[in-house]
Amino acid sequence: MRIAATADLHFTPQRYGALRDQLNRVRDEADIFVVAGDLTNFGQPEEMEPLLNALVRLRVPVVVVLGNHDYESDKQSDLIRMLTDAGVKVLDGSAYERDGVGFAGTKGFVGGFGRGMLTAFGEPEIKTFVRAGIDEAVKLERAMSQLRSPKRVVVLHYSPIAATVDGEAREIYPFLGTSRLAEVVDRHGADLVLHGHAHNGKPDGKTTAGVPVHNVAITLLQAQNPSKVYRVFDI
Ligand SMILES: [Fe+2]
Ligand SMILES: [Fe+2]
Repeated sequence: MRIAATADLHFTPQRYGALRDQLNRVRDEADIFVVAGDLTNFGQPEEMEPLLNALVRLRVPVVVVLGNHDYESDKQSDLIRMLTDAGVKVLDGSAYERDGVGFAGTKGFVGGFGRGMLTAFGEPEIKTFVRAGIDEAVKLERAMSQLRSPKRVVVLHYSPIAATVDGEAREIYPFLGTSRLAEVVDRHGADLVLHGHAHNGKPDGKTTAGVPVHNVAITLLQAQNPSKVYRVFDI
């Protein structure tokens, strides 16, 4: 299966003009289109509407997770309903199988990497904050345990490893993802992990167990030569 993946569209109709020609090629180059979060800037249904029109016109199956920007207006449930009604598969602690390939996805959360990972110690506010990251890891666990397919793809918005956020300011690493997600990936095993959020990160990395992780933020894809708006993975 050929998987075209992108993230961080932060969609506006004005931006779409620049993407349209390349996006229209998706159905020739891939069997499925993955968008790893930050579909909108402010999570408003009015922003989702034109994006949905564009996605439907691609005429390929579309799988997405939401990103932090899609939560900004607290209308994520409305956005999920709009996407689902248009036939887009929204992964939110859930799984989807197609042609022998399983997709497990969730937004993920912040929290830091490796020895720098924040733990649930001290003030209740810290515990609540850390709990949100643990909850997302549990959702990923649930999604991955539903997969029965030989091939497995994980879709996240936040990064599960530090390597693919490298390039961002070190001070913000803890806000770009958390190793808690990678622990789940390594426990269950996967062929491919796709994420976004770190607009200035690096495209390629691996988990401790060697699962390939790719940051498909559109800013990174566009910075490559030749400039792309999605990257195709063959699995
Ligand atoms: Fe983003
Ligand atoms: Fe983001």
